[in-house]
Parts: sequence; C-alpha cells; structure tokens
Amino acid sequence: VIDIRSLYAQTGLFTYDPGFTSTAACDSAITYIDGDKGELLYRGYPIDQLADNSSYIEVCYLLLYGELPSKADLRDFENRVTRHTMVHEQMHYFYRGFRRDAHPMAIVTGVVGAMAAFYHDSTDISDPEQREIASIRMIAKLPTIVAMAYKYSVGQPFVYPRNDLDYASNFLHMCFAVPAEEYKVDPVVARAMDRIFTLHADHEQNASTSTVRLSGSSDANPFACIAAGVACLWGPAHGGANEAALNMLRQIGTVDRIPEFIARAKDKNDPFRLMGFGHRVYKNYDPRAAVMQESAREVLDLLGVENNPTLQVAQELEKIALEDPYFVERKLYPNVDFYSGIILDAIGFPTSMFTAIFALSRTVGWIAQWKEMIGDPQKKIGRPRQLYNGATKRDYVDISAR
Ligand code: ACO
Repeated sequence: VIDIRSLYAQTGLFTYDPGFTSTAACDSAITYIDGDKGELLYRGYPIDQLADNSSYIEVCYLLLYGELPSKADLRDFENRVTRHTMVHEQMHYFYRGFRRDAHPMAIVTGVVGAMAAFYHDSTDISDPEQREIASIRMIAKLPTIVAMAYKYSVGQPFVYPRNDLDYASNFLHMCFAVPAEEYKVDPVVARAMDRIFTLHADHEQNASTSTVRLSGSSDANPFACIAAGVACLWGPAHGGANEAALNMLRQIGTVDRIPEFIARAKDKNDPFRLMGFGHRVYKNYDPRAAVMQESAREVLDLLGVENNPTLQVAQELEKIALEDPYFVERKLYPNVDFYSGIILDAIGFPTSMFTAIFALSRTVGWIAQWKEMIGDPQKKIGRPRQLYNGATKRDYVDISAR
C-alpha cells in the first residue's frame, strides 16, 4: 500500500484510477471484505454468524458503536429508535405532491433530503449530540418513509408505525396492513425481512457509501448526505440489481431456456449480462448469497410456492453457471441480489420497491461511515483529480466568425 499523499507533496505525482479499483479513499474500522475468500465482517464479526444469531437492530448498534450491545444497551438503543419512528405530520403533504405513479426511489430521495427542512435541531454537524440524534432519526424513520412511499403508490392510506413490533415486523405492518382488517406478520417472513436488512446493512466503500462520504466531506448536513447515497444506490449496476435479476429470471421463465441466456451472457457482441452475477470485490461466492438462498427456500416453503418457477430457474442457472468455464475463469459468482429479489417478490413487494428496501437497510451503514468520517481529525474535503484530455488553450472566436 502506497500513501500517495506524501508522494504527491514531494513530487506532484498522483494516480489515475478510473472506477477507483485500486485506490483506498479512507481508513475505516467498520466493515472488512476479503473478496478472494468471500468473507464479509461487520466490526470483525462474520456476516453469516450475524445473520443467524443477531437481529438487524443489534447489527445497527454494532455498526454504529463498534461493539455488540449488552441487554441493557440494546433495550436502550431500541427505545431510542422507536421513539423516533413517526415522521412529521406535515411530511404527509410532501408525499401528496408526487405523482401517484412516481418511483418509490424518487420519493425516498426527495423525502430524505427534505428531512433537513423538518428537523433543524439535528443538522449542525459540529455538535456530536446533533449528529447522534440525526443518526437515530434516520434509522428510525427510513422504514416509515419507505412504507409510506409504497402505500402512496398503491393508493392506500398511510399506516402509522407500531412501536410494540420489532424493526422488520413494524416495516411489514406499515406496508401491508390495511384499515379494518387484521394483519399479522408471520415470524418466518419477519425473520427473512430482518436478514435482508442485516445482509445489506454495510459494504464498505461501495458507490453509494463513497457518495455519502464525499457529500459529507464538505460538511453538508447528514440528511442531504444520506439523500445523495439513496440517489446513487438507485442505479441498476448498484442497488437496482436485484430488480434486474428478478426480471431476468422471469424473462428466462423456464429451466430449458437457460442455455440460450448463458450463451447471450458470454457473447461479447451482446450487451446482456447475467444479472445478480459478478461483483467488483468478490471474486468468490458472495457470503451474503448463501444466506439469501437459505432464506428464499424458507419463505417459499412457508408461502406454499416451493414449485416456484423463478426459484427453480435461479437454482438451475446458478448450478450451470458455476460449472461453466466462462464464469469460472472470470470468477463470476451469484451476488446477494441474485436471491433477495425472489424473497421480496414472494413477500408481496413490487419490484419498484426493491431498491427502496435496500436503501432503508443500507442507511445505518451510510450513517456509520459518515460518523466515522466526521469524527476523523484528519478529515479533508474529498477532491478527486483528473487527467485533462480536452482542447488545448485557444483564443475566443467571435460568433460571426464561427
Ligand atoms: N454476466 C456475464 N459476463 C460478466 C458479468 C455478468 N454478470 N459480469 C462480468 N462479466 C464479464 C465481463 O464481460 C468481463 O469479461 P471480459 O474480461 O471477457 O471482458 C469480465 O467478466 C469482468 O467484468 P467487469 O465488468 O470488468 O467486472 P467489474 O468488477 O467491473 O464488474 C459488476 C462488476 C458491475 C457487478 C458486473 O459483474 C456486472 O455487471 N454484474 C451484473 C450486475 C449485478 O449483478 N450488479 C450487482 C452488484 S452487487 C451490488 O451492487 C449489491
């Protein structure tokens, strides 16, 4: 590892690294990935152990404060979060300004950014207390904000949070409860939802997290920074991948059509790629994909759709691709998005909600990274350099002479 800062100071030399494939933009003690081994650790704890034994709210505490909480710490943290689950009543009018068919991500990007206009008492980033309140507010309110975007899109009344429910169950309740009908969250579904949140909670310096850090480096308020992260996550090469993966599985339709799509993915004249395959960092099985596959089976068994053609296509496609030299040589394995779309679809979410759910899960990671950066005494405004390849210096030509 070369610390290019001292090299730059001494020689004026800087690196050219489009896509930042080999440039570390910060020090961080939050998440560790070993892409070759297929290992992901939150604060040192393996992701599969956390997915099996922990809850998302406990993982939030871990990511934010660095250690697993004691029982009392966890209770206190949960109380602090649940106290902030409601959004300002005036925000309801803000929602009503959107077109009914607006994409939930467009709404979430706008509403999260607008939080700065509602919660003035937590925008002063120089005050650690305000930073803390802003963090708790976002973790608490994102499920409400995302659920409201969903309710708005289906033309149903907003459902207020229920603070007697756990984080995942409350989210499902706000999405699927309707007035005058009893809605009971199934514990298997709630567990799958909670695991989706946990598996997406942080992933070190990916595009959206880097966006949050870059925005925060200018001392922008935390709501604006997280809104920038949401906007970045929206792209199909990032958060939109599970939507794209599910659409692809549906397009394939039946197991016998898989070879045709594998051939297309290998054809360099065809822009088609196997969505949900490959990862910039993992050059081995994405450890989150294994947990997701297990959850997909549990949910589909429970909902009585074990013969679900989409799951069958997914399992067969994975088997074929893992034996195909093209994918083996390029180390292309299923990523977390390959199975998460199947689960969300089975739970009843439309594909347009998938990225919004990812955003809600990732909010804690963005906040933990933002807090780490703000608290760093070495913090500098992010300012990438460039290699200029435009016109050389030339004189202005009057419009009559052009
Ligand atoms: N299907 C077919 N071929 C692929 C795929 C794929 N899904 N992914 C990569 N390749 C091939 C490329 O064509 C390239 O082949 P070549 O060397 O013969 O030219 C080689 O594998 C390397 O690919 P790169 O694009 O250079 O790899 P990179 O690390 O830049 O890309 C990415 C990673 C963007 C995730 C890519 O694998 C991809 O597009 N996957 C599909 C989209 C997807 O699932 N995204 C989700 C990412 S996970 C997340 O955001 C949570």
